[in-house]
Amino acid sequence: MVEIRKVQEMDAEAVWQIFHEVVAEGDAFCSDESVSREQALNMWLTDDTYVALVEGQIAGAYSLFPIHSGHGSHITGAAYMVSSRYRGTGVGLALGHHSLEKAKEKGYLAMQFNCVVSTNEAALALWKKLGFKIIGTVPKGFQHPKCGLVDTHILHRFL
Ligand SMILES: CC(C)(COP(=O)(O)OP(=O)(O)OC[C@H]1O[C@@H](n2cnc3c(N)ncnc32)[C@H](O)[C@@H]1OP(=O)(O)O)[C@@H](O)C(=O)NCCC(=O)NCCS
Repeated sequence: MVEIRKVQEMDAEAVWQIFHEVVAEGDAFCSDESVSREQALNMWLTDDTYVALVEGQIAGAYSLFPIHSGHGSHITGAAYMVSSRYRGTGVGLALGHHSLEKAKEKGYLAMQFNCVVSTNEAALALWKKLGFKIIGTVPKGFQHPKCGLVDTHILHRFL
């Protein structure tokens, strides 16, 4: 069972640990290990961040943010992360569904991910399952720690 609720101040350490793990893996986020705890928590402790709990433990999180300001602010971006301990158990899917609902509730017209690493099979399979389409590719857009320069995809879906 995955419970999803708004992030709270008391979740800060757990959220930081998951972020730090993903960044240390180096194959999904553009952020690298130079991002401080404070900077990371500024990104993840927002009004539009939700955490997933499994048996009371923080297993993952997502955060929504307008992808542009002004005339582009009707499209939301989002970031997702699941602790390696809980991956493959439905947490990402639950966060994905929840985020689409929340984005709709907030009045966004569409959701767009600007940088999905082409080697991130789990993320690509998840987003395709949730109805996203690849609308563009940035050649050699990501410095992958094992594969070298790899493409990144832009994914989009209307809400
Ligand atoms: C991508 C991520 C959020 C997926 O979360 P998750 O909890 O592992 O995913 P789920 O268990 O809910 O799986 C949902 C679907 O994703 C796909 N998927 C998940 N793991 C997969 C894997 N290792 N290989 C291929 N597909 C996978 C499957 O389609 C799966 O559905 P299924 O179980 O019915 O086949 C998670 O792996 C993660 O946090 N990775 C590091 C950070 C990251 O990549 N963030 C997203 C950047 S765009």
